[in-house]
Amino acid sequence: MRPGRRFRKVNMKRIEPIDRPLKGTIAVPGDKSIAHRAVIFGSIAQGRTRIFNLSGGEDNSRTVRAFRQLGVEIERDGDVLCVAGKGFAGLRQADGAIDCGNSGTTIRLMSGLLSGLPFHSELDGDASIRQRPMQRVIDPLTKMGARIHSKSGNGLAPLEIDGGGLHGMSYKMPIASAQVKSAILLAALQADGETRIEEPQRSRDHTEVMIRGFGGAVNVDGVQIGVNGGQSLRGQDVRIPGDISSAAFFLVAAALVPGSDVTVRNVGCNPTRDGIIEILRAMGAKLGLSNERAEAGERVVDIRVTGGTLRGVDVGPELVARTIDEYPILAIAGALAEGVTRFADVKELRFKESDRIAAMTEGLQNLGVKVESTEDSMAIHGAAKLTGGAVRSFADHRVAMSFAVAGLVSAGGVELDDARCASISFPTFFDLMEQICLH
Ligand code: S3P
Repeated sequence: MRPGRRFRKVNMKRIEPIDRPLKGTIAVPGDKSIAHRAVIFGSIAQGRTRIFNLSGGEDNSRTVRAFRQLGVEIERDGDVLCVAGKGFAGLRQADGAIDCGNSGTTIRLMSGLLSGLPFHSELDGDASIRQRPMQRVIDPLTKMGARIHSKSGNGLAPLEIDGGGLHGMSYKMPIASAQVKSAILLAALQADGETRIEEPQRSRDHTEVMIRGFGGAVNVDGVQIGVNGGQSLRGQDVRIPGDISSAAFFLVAAALVPGSDVTVRNVGCNPTRDGIIEILRAMGAKLGLSNERAEAGERVVDIRVTGGTLRGVDVGPELVARTIDEYPILAIAGALAEGVTRFADVKELRFKESDRIAAMTEGLQNLGVKVESTEDSMAIHGAAKLTGGAVRSFADHRVAMSFAVAGLVSAGGVELDDARCASISFPTFFDLMEQICLH
């Protein structure tokens, strides 16, 4: 057997259709976006930060490793990650390139942070990262005085940075991207003077929340954000809420199977991330939010979903930023809803871990669903049943988990070429799926 073949087989997984409703109470791993930021802020603050409920996903581990390479002491103590922050000045040059793996958040946020630090850095990643646009961070950081280049000159990773000497600026962002905004904010904290940013649409605001949580100041007025350089940040205890983007797979699975009753506890429900709740409700799903509280400055709830039938909806441009990572699983919901589900203005999906418009279109068509896609839209024609068949995940964790859910609700099961990539964000995904299927 050729080595390539064996590797593919190891990652392959068949998901059989379920013959009963989904039931149970689960908690999903900690939010990936918030965890990246907790490690970053813990490392640039003064004093000890303790991070509770880290996901264990590979993306977050990349950020941890990056800061260890920059000389930060980060230790595991049972379930807690302890970060010994010594401020920006405590960071030193990494020996060799920092490998961000598959993590877009790591490479983009690190590009902003390293632009302010007075040494040479290199950022790189896997084949997917090397395809993803980096000019969107290079442009604003260059405007702040950073010396940051795409090594091959094509706007892609690897990136080379010779940091230091930043100044504040005013910047109107051409696209709504929390990664770009956060890269600018991390540079701005090290720049002379004030930096002002305007977003076209409010993207997730975990960085702003965390600046405040670590004792800093940031002014937010709708889509306008202002931050001053030279602030001092203090280490904190950060309890990371469950990831709504991980919960989404089970919310949709339970909503699609009549008789299901699933509760996901401790879900981060930040208003810049909760598009999935609004859209599933518009599709007729029965979702109940309870036990609302705050953790790490973030809104947290328990979500109960009971199964039934869904109807197709038009998801308009105004929902894109709040829903950005949930389109793949919403495409599965649309595939089994009555009528057509349309996603408008979703070009950004083409620049994720894979081209998610292409990946979801191909996979759904393999399962017998009619899908029309353009450069920036999708129309999914709901079918009474998904046939079943082979689907490619394109090494994209959210595509893989979406088609795993499709397998559960299909007639013939789904064979995924690569299910292992789920561990990028959600290493326990298949265990939890089993738990609510085999109650
Ligand atoms: C993220 C922002 C989003 C999202 C990604 C995580 C973040 O990307 O898709 O999974 O943690 O800031 P963009 O900023 O490119 O929209």
